[in-house]
Amino acid sequence: EWMWLPAAVLAYLIGSLSFAVVVSRAMGLSDPRTYGSKNPGATNVLRSGNKKAAALTLLLDAFKGWLPVWWVLHWGGHWGMDEGTVALVGLAAFLGHLFPVFFRFKGGKGVATAAGVLLAYQPWLGLAVLASWVIIAVFFRYSSLAAIVAAIFAPFFYLFGDGVAWDVAAPIAVSMSVMSILLLWRHADNIQRLLSGQESRIGGGRR
Ligand code: G3P
Repeated sequence: EWMWLPAAVLAYLIGSLSFAVVVSRAMGLSDPRTYGSKNPGATNVLRSGNKKAAALTLLLDAFKGWLPVWWVLHWGGHWGMDEGTVALVGLAAFLGHLFPVFFRFKGGKGVATAAGVLLAYQPWLGLAVLASWVIIAVFFRYSSLAAIVAAIFAPFFYLFGDGVAWDVAAPIAVSMSVMSILLLWRHADNIQRLLSGQESRIGGGRR
């Protein structure tokens, strides 16, 4: 029953791998914390002009959220882990991305990692949230606005989708809400830039 603790610590450590920094370093690009929004995330890596690096960052940051949840869902039962642990490891990976132990606790905004976590929690819910991100991103071309809208929609999708296409346990609903709130808080600067018309659009290059 105590296995939730090492599982959460491990998920936090995996979440702490800031792939925007790791991928940029591996590909010989400048550190994303030095240009654009200075955020270590796929959106900002895209501002370097290297689409491959941005795509790789997006995939790996999402994967690190998906992996621990998937692992507990499939193997956790053998170790006495329940839905509480499923919810917890997803939140732990997300927190690792925001406050990475390997990068002086200065991490990203959690969009890709939250997407990975949601896809593992409940694929239909994850896809619905992802679809709302894509729709806003395509129409408005603001990555941040798409994330903000998707984060606001996520709990509503859960509430109104309950019993229709998905059935999410209470600990997972709590984890989702905490992730949404933290994600919105991390976008405070983006919200100000959006309101003042200063936000950069996807494909707009460096700022
Ligand atoms: O990936 C985070 C995104 O929503 C905003 O990133 O670099 O424009 O602040 P950025």
